[in-house]
Amino acid sequence: MKPGKQPRVVVVGSSNTDFVIRSQRLPAPGQTVLGGDFAIHPGGKGANQAVAAARAGGRVSLVACIGVDPHGDAAFARLQAEGIHLDHVVRQAGRPSGVALILVDAGGENMISVARSSNDELGPGDVAAARRTIRSAGCLVLQLEVPLPAVEAAVRLAHEEGVRVVLNPAPAPLGGLPPPLLQGLFALTPNAQEAAELTGQRAGGGPKAVERAARRLVAAGVEHVLVTCGAAGVCWARRGALRWFPALPVEAVDTVGAGDCFTGTLAVALAERQPMDRAIGFALAAAALCVSRHGAQPAMPRRQEILQLPRHD
Ligand code: RIB
Repeated sequence: MKPGKQPRVVVVGSSNTDFVIRSQRLPAPGQTVLGGDFAIHPGGKGANQAVAAARAGGRVSLVACIGVDPHGDAAFARLQAEGIHLDHVVRQAGRPSGVALILVDAGGENMISVARSSNDELGPGDVAAARRTIRSAGCLVLQLEVPLPAVEAAVRLAHEEGVRVVLNPAPAPLGGLPPPLLQGLFALTPNAQEAAELTGQRAGGGPKAVERAARRLVAAGVEHVLVTCGAAGVCWARRGALRWFPALPVEAVDTVGAGDCFTGTLAVALAERQPMDRAIGFALAAAALCVSRHGAQPAMPRRQEILQLPRHD
């Protein structure tokens, strides 16, 4: 895509370094399992979404806080190499950069624990400093690995500037999200577990529970709710309508970053003003490619690869 024609996406969010161990199965609490290979990858939901959007054809700016240490330097350099604009990335001395400990089993399922560290320092002032950049965007992307006041400030600012907001509510907060925040969202992209947590339901309730949660979130004021359900596809709810999109059949080897891939790619399509069904098809194709590869950022597909896959929209 020619640089002048690139849809603009701004991501406000986290950057981490991922320490990943693969093993046959995930340990239960108190259990030790012998793992296989160990790998270090750039990660963090915000940075992953920025990379997904950039590779999907977006002109991307990241608003984030990264420590001044070797992990932070490496993460910053990787993002720069992806062509992501980093003018609004604060380098914070005195706090380590964010890290995530990740376990992945033979079926691609994962467990993640995050030390937010420098990500914790991102505040409303950093968001306000990026106002001009956000104003020029076709879509603003957020997640919840940075403090909530920064997320709320970004939603308010985007609303004032008439910019569409997509929130990936991960990790989902206990007790749900403040109503004004939900009311400021163009799209919300929880997975099934996050949708259940946000609506005070038990996780694992099946498709009917997903639909119930999606409808509740629409009733709470979100314009489009897209619940990502892995191999079961995506449930799209908006006022008065609900539709399922099937996932593309692929062999999943690693689901880390799949939700980030879906959200970042979706943002590009929305910034291009594609209709929502086309945008979901584009994002589902990208997520299918992502889960068939290892790592988070390394697995994000490029626009040409995404466009070559058959679509189900
Ligand atoms: O969504 C996957 C990401 O969650 C990982 O890259 C890890 O850093 C955590 O933020």
